[in-house]
Amino acid sequence: QPSPVYQQCQGCHQANGAGIPGAFPPLAKHTPDILAAKGGRTYLIQVLLYGLQGEINVKGQKYNGMMPGWSQLSDAEIAAVLNHISTQWGDQFPAGQKPFTAAEVKAQRGTKLTPQQVYSNRQKLGLK
Ligand code: HEM
Repeated sequence: QPSPVYQQCQGCHQANGAGIPGAFPPLAKHTPDILAAKGGRTYLIQVLLYGLQGEINVKGQKYNGMMPGWSQLSDAEIAAVLNHISTQWGDQFPAGQKPFTAAEVKAQRGTKLTPQQVYSNRQKLGLK
């Protein structure tokens, strides 16, 4: 389900979700790996609400940029853009996972994490 909000992401992550190697990480063929990790679903919501800062490695490329938070978007918009990046480019939710709901996003508001705290949560996912 295409999300108009993704237009605000594609300047960095690109319309085809491939990102820019070394600058902006890909979302295509990568978001499902995050979803499959224990805690990955909550982490994705936190990245959207609070941003991300810290060195990450995605498919053999290093990234050490700053992902801005998007807490100004509504819960429904954040759920929609997460569903978009989970199901575009031939990707799909791991077996048994349902689409993100606005209520699931709302549950992560109020923790007010910093982008560095979101990074520390990423490190607990055990992503390769
Ligand atoms: C990281 C999604 C907008 C730059 C990420 C990650 C996700 C994501 C899920 C985490 C990837 C991972 O943990 O492996 C989105 C969505 C956006 C958006 C859905 C639109 C609402 C942007 C924009 C920029 C950007 C506009 C550039 C200004 C980055 C960077 C990282 C990142 C640099 C890696 C941060 C680091 O190195 O720690 N994005 N993004 N994103 N995003 Fe975005």
